[in-house]
Amino acid sequence: MKVSVIGCGYLGAVHAACMARLGHEVVGIDVDERKVAALREGRAPFYEPGLPELLEEVAATGRLTFSTEMADAAGAAVHFICVGTPQSHGEFRADLSYVDAATSALTPFLQAGDVVAGKSTVPVGTAERLAASLEATGATLVWNPEFLREGFAVQDTLHPDRLVYGLPTDDDGVTTPAGEKARAVLDEVYATPLAAGTPLVVTDRATAQLVKVAANSFLATKISFINAMAELCEATGADVTRLADAIGYDPRIGRRFLNAGLGFGGGCLPKDIRAFMARAGELGVSDALGFLREIDSINMRRRVRMVDLAREVCHGSIVGRRVAVLGAAFKPDSDDVRDSPALSVAAQMQLQGAHVTVTDPKAIENARAKWPDLRFAATALEAAEEADVVLLATEWPEYRDLDPDELAAVVNRKAILDGRNVLDPARWRAAGWTYRALGRP
Ligand code: UGA
Repeated sequence: MKVSVIGCGYLGAVHAACMARLGHEVVGIDVDERKVAALREGRAPFYEPGLPELLEEVAATGRLTFSTEMADAAGAAVHFICVGTPQSHGEFRADLSYVDAATSALTPFLQAGDVVAGKSTVPVGTAERLAASLEATGATLVWNPEFLREGFAVQDTLHPDRLVYGLPTDDDGVTTPAGEKARAVLDEVYATPLAAGTPLVVTDRATAQLVKVAANSFLATKISFINAMAELCEATGADVTRLADAIGYDPRIGRRFLNAGLGFGGGCLPKDIRAFMARAGELGVSDALGFLREIDSINMRRRVRMVDLAREVCHGSIVGRRVAVLGAAFKPDSDDVRDSPALSVAAQMQLQGAHVTVTDPKAIENARAKWPDLRFAATALEAAEEADVVLLATEWPEYRDLDPDELAAVVNRKAILDGRNVLDPARWRAAGWTYRALGRP
């Protein structure tokens, strides 16, 4: 099947490569010439495990091309909209300008019967608006949200835990004939994962749009719940990691996404819960999502608390102290620094007078572009040289596995802050370190 993918960022580039891997003939379109040039050479424009290998594999088949010309999307049976929906400047609302621009640029090249499948995370109602704008073309707009995680994007796209189709429905809620045809097209696109037994939820467009933001809100809630428990643990001398283990054994709760620490960041969870709140307000149901404001506050408080903890281990002041921050990416296996808790804490400490050196295996370039005033080092040992306090902020395996004695040899004072609750306190304390963490005694 001929497929176009509009937008080749973290979502689109992976989706394009995976569609080609599934046997389709794919053209990826992006307005960013540098991105397209890199992808044409088989290089991933960002760090994502497995993506370079996949690009190389599918390049050899000739099934994957990239272009900056929207005209090259013409003739595809299905067009996936994969552009970003960042937070609007100074507001909670999602900025839909990229979605709108992509859709209107695509419109002249659509033919009757084409399927336009929205994958970007959008406020509910966007699909209906876009569908109206496409009506004259005879194309069918469906919503097909994406649930991939950065760091596992290839695996998540090739072997999704579920597929969701949001199809156009009539006034009685019944899928329209055009919707049924679009469903058959999507079934063909996803024939491989469907044959492998991937659960499929077929629904209306409003539900499909809501599924995505509901899922991300739930995940954010789970993280902030455990971080709220961490605050209680801090007030009582309890240990949030043991608490998470204990409640996580209840399968109704589950242990995943209950890791307390610096909280959530990235290009999705923070902006998605805010856009969801903004949309609820527009719909007149802001009370329904009032709790998300608290989820956001709990999350942001962790960053402040971490700076306070640094101050505590520095005996009251971080002014002039040397701080090593291990990690800049918002999570391991990514070079994404959008709303990164690690960088946010590093920048706060720098602004409050500390001398901060940040290291990260993959994200230094992106971090430097965002915070050029911070100092950067290539390795943990270099970053920690003469440090008064070391903060583990992103749980890359090489930081989890650090040897306390090796690190002790380079620092000025043996003080470690475990921002992700991944180190063994007993081991670090036995090596003479002051160990502090969020939600742990
Ligand atoms: C998230 C969702 O998990 C995906 O399902 C979704 O498709 C994606 O957003 C999206 O909307 O596109 P992602 O942003 O890649 O994926 O990252 P997550 O793995 O969800 O982690 C988000 C943040 O939460 C990270 O900063 C991570 O460190 C933090 N986190 C995660 C915790 O603090 N504790 C946990 O227990 C888990």
